[in-house]
Amino acid sequence: MMGKGIFTIKDYKVWLPIIFVLFQIFMGFPTLLFAKGECPQNRKTPTAPKEFLSMKNPLSANTKIIEAGEKLFQKQAIPITCKTCHGTKGNGKGDPDFESTPPARDFTCAKTMKSLPDGQLFWIIRNGSPGTSMFGYSGLSDNEIWQLIHYIRQFAKK
Ligand code: HEC
Repeated sequence: MMGKGIFTIKDYKVWLPIIFVLFQIFMGFPTLLFAKGECPQNRKTPTAPKEFLSMKNPLSANTKIIEAGEKLFQKQAIPITCKTCHGTKGNGKGDPDFESTPPARDFTCAKTMKSLPDGQLFWIIRNGSPGTSMFGYSGLSDNEIWQLIHYIRQFAKK
């Protein structure tokens, strides 16, 4: 009975997808949930408390403010810069050594970014997202966080 049944090499087109689907079910759909380059991007991030969600960026998005945000994002934020994980271009493709599941937010994805109020971004930058590699930057001042938010929002506008 060579060549019959679904477990012959020849019929890989049948059993490979089956194995793939079973793997996805078993692992809780990791590829579907956290596929790279996906837009809108799936978020594990918890929703910020109400009093944060209603916050608006008090700074105006002028060149000076955006440049200050850029400096923090690309060079100054400690202990590690935002670009390490979010990428120089803000597309979520940072240093491969810092890749994680879920992946870093892709700030170039306008669909996802439009759905996130300023206060949500503020809350996460200050407090981090538990269970992900996004830790809280408690050392940044309110002003610095708002500068970063203006800078981050530029990525989806280009
Ligand atoms: C060690 C890696 C890492 C670094 C460094 C890092 N992030 Fe993140 N960031 C992540 C990951 C991973 C997520 C996605 C978390 C999730 O899906 O819950 C994320 C998510 C975010 C979000 C999205 C929050 C939301 O509600 O969706 C913002 C905003 C953010 N990061 C800003 C920053 C800023 C600003 C810096 C630098 C000051 C920074 N991140 C540094 C890994 C990192």
